[in-house]
Amino acid sequence: MLLDMHLTPSLTAGLCLAAGLTVSAQQPRQPNYDESKVGNHPLPDPLTCADGLKVTDARTWQTKRRAEIFQLFQTYVYGRSPTKPGNIIFEITKTDTQALGGKATRKEIAIFLTGKKDGPRLDLQLYTPNGAKGPVPAFLGCNFNGNHAVHADPQVTLNPRWMRNSQDKKSVVNNRATEASRGSEASRWQVETVIAHGYALATYYYGDVEPDHAEGWKDGLRAALAKDGPNTQLASDAWGAIGAWAWGLSRALDYLEQDKAVDAKKVAVIGHSRLGKTSLWAGASDERFAIVISNNSGEGGASISRRDFGETVAVLNKNFPHWFCGNYKQFSGAPEKLPVDMHQLVALAAPRPVYIASAAEDQWADPKGEFLAGKFAEPVYALFGKQGTGVAEWPNVNQPVGDSIGYHVRTGKHDVTAYDWEQYLKFADRHFKK
Ligand code: GCU
Repeated sequence: MLLDMHLTPSLTAGLCLAAGLTVSAQQPRQPNYDESKVGNHPLPDPLTCADGLKVTDARTWQTKRRAEIFQLFQTYVYGRSPTKPGNIIFEITKTDTQALGGKATRKEIAIFLTGKKDGPRLDLQLYTPNGAKGPVPAFLGCNFNGNHAVHADPQVTLNPRWMRNSQDKKSVVNNRATEASRGSEASRWQVETVIAHGYALATYYYGDVEPDHAEGWKDGLRAALAKDGPNTQLASDAWGAIGAWAWGLSRALDYLEQDKAVDAKKVAVIGHSRLGKTSLWAGASDERFAIVISNNSGEGGASISRRDFGETVAVLNKNFPHWFCGNYKQFSGAPEKLPVDMHQLVALAAPRPVYIASAAEDQWADPKGEFLAGKFAEPVYALFGKQGTGVAEWPNVNQPVGDSIGYHVRTGKHDVTAYDWEQYLKFADRHFKK
């Protein structure tokens, strides 16, 4: 049975990767927004091993099939990330016990990623609720504009590193943040709500690990860890920027494991858009993350790549050649040749709870394709006796669904809103039994 990607998602069994498809390399062209033209390529089956064995139990998934799929994502999509160096240094550089009007403690933690104080450094910002009775669960994610953009608090250190210039021509000037950018990303983080709910919030600026442009890796972690530094010829399966940002999230989790205010067994990794692609890959790569949340992650994130709707692999490779590994370029114009698709990325979170959020006006990200990735991951969750989205059809707007695979499509644009956070908090409460 093949998965029909434009109609009702069928509960899957026996999918197979179509062999011998003829494909022609295409240049990016006008995006398709017509559901009748998304194509209907069969999806690779999460439950059929490379040797043909059908996975019918959780053990075979965990000991055999999961590793196969993970390796395919490493080889063809995000690249291979290095293991953790043994000499990372954590240094608390600032503590404010009276943040948010006394409701939270805010710490800044420098994480020296290669164990050298003059090497790449990630600055983690951690808010924990004051008066908690013990360690609390946490949300951890990368931010786009610096820790100082997450809340307008003037005490927060202004990020000193490279940033894309802002359109308002005052928040980021000459590729550096200014005072005007304080709090510019606050609505996306809802710090007060998260703290009032009894959770910690940890975040770092993704550009600390690698500046987000094609040559950025030369000034970031990837070059710092490479044999010949910025002169290294990156292998076709070497990690891309998303891999590096995700690796930074794991190092942040290493720190959280040491902080007594946080229950590191209850950390939800979260991200929006390119950073939602990053949180999905972080959750796949590091099983210590207890919940994985993808907010509007789109193409190269939760959206099914084989659906030709909105952004395509070809567009991603053209506009953001540094995000994925070199091998991913082979699939520009030929996503049906990918040996994996994004329902399998979602399945790599299993049996941990995963939440996928879409926005109705975010057609570029293919909201329906994001839903289908969750839907088609269900057979893997079923191996663990877990229920997935709990629905047969793409739900209506503002109707959150799902048990172990949460999903909603809200009204509005590509963004993270208070509504999104409301659902994430409920989902986390349910799974962390708060
Ligand atoms: C672009 C890109 C998307 C990405 C988004 C973002 O729109 O095409 O793939 O998710 O940027 O990160 O904001």
